[in-house]
Amino acid sequence: MENRIVIEAEELTKKYGVQIAVNQLNLKVKEGEVFGFLGPNGAGKTTTLLMFLGLTEPTSGRIKILGFDPTREPFRIKEKVGFLPENVGFYEDMDARQNLRYIARLNRIPDRVSERRIEEWLELVGLSKEGGKKVGTYSKGMRQRLGIAEVMIKEPKIIFLDEPTIGLDPDGTNWMLDLIHSLSREKKITTFLSSHLLDQVQRICDRVGIMIKGNLVASGPIEELAKKKLGVDAKDYTLEEIYMTYFKEA
Ligand SMILES: Nc1ncnc2c1ncn2[C@@H]1O[C@H](COP(=O)(O)OP(=O)(O)OP(=O)(O)O)[C@@H](O)[C@H]1O
Ligand SMILES: [Mg+2]
Repeated sequence: MENRIVIEAEELTKKYGVQIAVNQLNLKVKEGEVFGFLGPNGAGKTTTLLMFLGLTEPTSGRIKILGFDPTREPFRIKEKVGFLPENVGFYEDMDARQNLRYIARLNRIPDRVSERRIEEWLELVGLSKEGGKKVGTYSKGMRQRLGIAEVMIKEPKIIFLDEPTIGLDPDGTNWMLDLIHSLSREKKITTFLSSHLLDQVQRICDRVGIMIKGNLVASGPIEELAKKKLGVDAKDYTLEEIYMTYFKEA
């Protein structure tokens, strides 16, 4: 069976005053896909993410996330969708376990369920030993790992990640990319991630979209974009080369 569409934007537009941050975006993402959302600074990536999450209202157009409208049904989205922002905020005076417990309760997960998930995820993100330390003492990479645990605690169907590997060391980066890939393949979790690190995107994304000045100038499997831009015989291409051809045209 064809995978169902879980993220859908139609003519989605966001204006800040006279400035158009996102211009008539049309986009579909299927269940279990890893979708990379690319584009230079100020292209409208974060704005799009915030609209998908119901955290900012579109000026016009339509969004369906798992069939729900994020503006009208924000609680449905909160229940099923995880978000790792560029800079994750925690309660600095609480330890990792306390932070995760707090989030679990906010999401109305019973303690007996959350306690098991908390230990599982602390283990998975490699923070079991440090789980009792105040988060205020954590390094950037540890915060990023805890951020992923926090996102996964409610067992979301879709995860939105804004620059998920920023601040991670090479080993942490590999771990994060492998994790995203296995969540997609083994659990059919859809990942929508924004990143400037094109080699990483190329490694894990099934499809990419390229935003420039609020416009989606390309979207599709990397291989297809390579054929379109670099020629049918293109081999050993990098996503960076493809990206740059679109960037120069825009
Ligand atoms: N709250 C806001 N008020 C006014 N303008 C905004 C606001 N948020 C974003 N913008 C503008 O909208 C445009 C798109 O910004 P956005 O943050 O979505 O870009 P981005 O693609 O995420 O960039 P980056 O790669 O730097 O994170 C920018 O010109 C930005 O200045
Ligand atoms: Mg951004």
